[in-house]
Amino acid sequence: MQSLTSTYHLSNGVTIPIVGFGTWQMEDGPTTVHAVHTAIETGYRHIDTAAAYQNEGSVGKAIRESGLARSDVFLTTKLQNRDHGYQATHDAFKRSLQALGVSYLDLYLIHWPNPIAFRDRWQTVNAETWRAFEELYEAGLVRSIGVSNFRPHHLETLSQSARIIPMVNQIRLCPGDVDLKTVDYSRAQNIQLEAYSPLGTGLVFDVPDLQSVAQKKNRTVAQIALRWSLQKGFLPLPKSTTPARIVENADVFDFDLTQEEINQIDNLTDCCDQALDPDKTNF
Ligand code: A2P
Repeated sequence: MQSLTSTYHLSNGVTIPIVGFGTWQMEDGPTTVHAVHTAIETGYRHIDTAAAYQNEGSVGKAIRESGLARSDVFLTTKLQNRDHGYQATHDAFKRSLQALGVSYLDLYLIHWPNPIAFRDRWQTVNAETWRAFEELYEAGLVRSIGVSNFRPHHLETLSQSARIIPMVNQIRLCPGDVDLKTVDYSRAQNIQLEAYSPLGTGLVFDVPDLQSVAQKKNRTVAQIALRWSLQKGFLPLPKSTTPARIVENADVFDFDLTQEEINQIDNLTDCCDQALDPDKTNF
């Protein structure tokens, strides 16, 4: 039976726990420290943060206080939008390590393909940013590198200058919000898909089809959404600051959805909001 310590293999052979603890929309401070403590006590060994979340300090503090060896936790953070570019990336990476209080990362992601400040030249800026990522990787400061919110044309453009193909693409991905083109493209390139907001930031709970599957399986809607994510080969990053939910979201390994149930969930559309189109945002 799988568990919170089961892993996928990234394209470079690094193993990554198949569920991560998401920390988006968690404020820096005791709530986040407490939530990460609870997650670690529950058995999560993969924590996902970002410079833009402004909670790296709390995440790092909780990991240190847990007493776990650094190598027992898979830690991800992300380059924030204002720090794109070669030297800015190197500088931002150092700041993130310092804020987290660690000497290396397990995964570093470009958070957004084309921030508004670089929208007119994102192709060349991403090439420079990625060159810095490759250097950090080759220097052993980060065990794997990837991207977030990239669509196929962003990945395709990056691959024209990249020496190393991203190992991960983290996108908003939940029942009713599956960007099939990005999913198919990433899979074809052997890029592991991570699912942020795997509960649709809470929207999954109101979906009748998910409620009926949950009732049939005697499970919660959250568990059905997370189980679906895992059976699709995604890597869900559920977020919660509520201890009972942190535990509930980890209790997803002792049941299977049938192919029919998977198909039913695959067929959901437009019920959980759609991921933003990076080419159209104003940030
Ligand atoms: P909270 O943090 O107050 O517990 P997502 O991971 O898709 O971004 O969803 C996060 C949202 O879903 C948060 O509002 C979180 O609330 C809520 N949530 C997380 N797990 C559960 C759960 N098992 N049951 C109900 N709500 C949950």
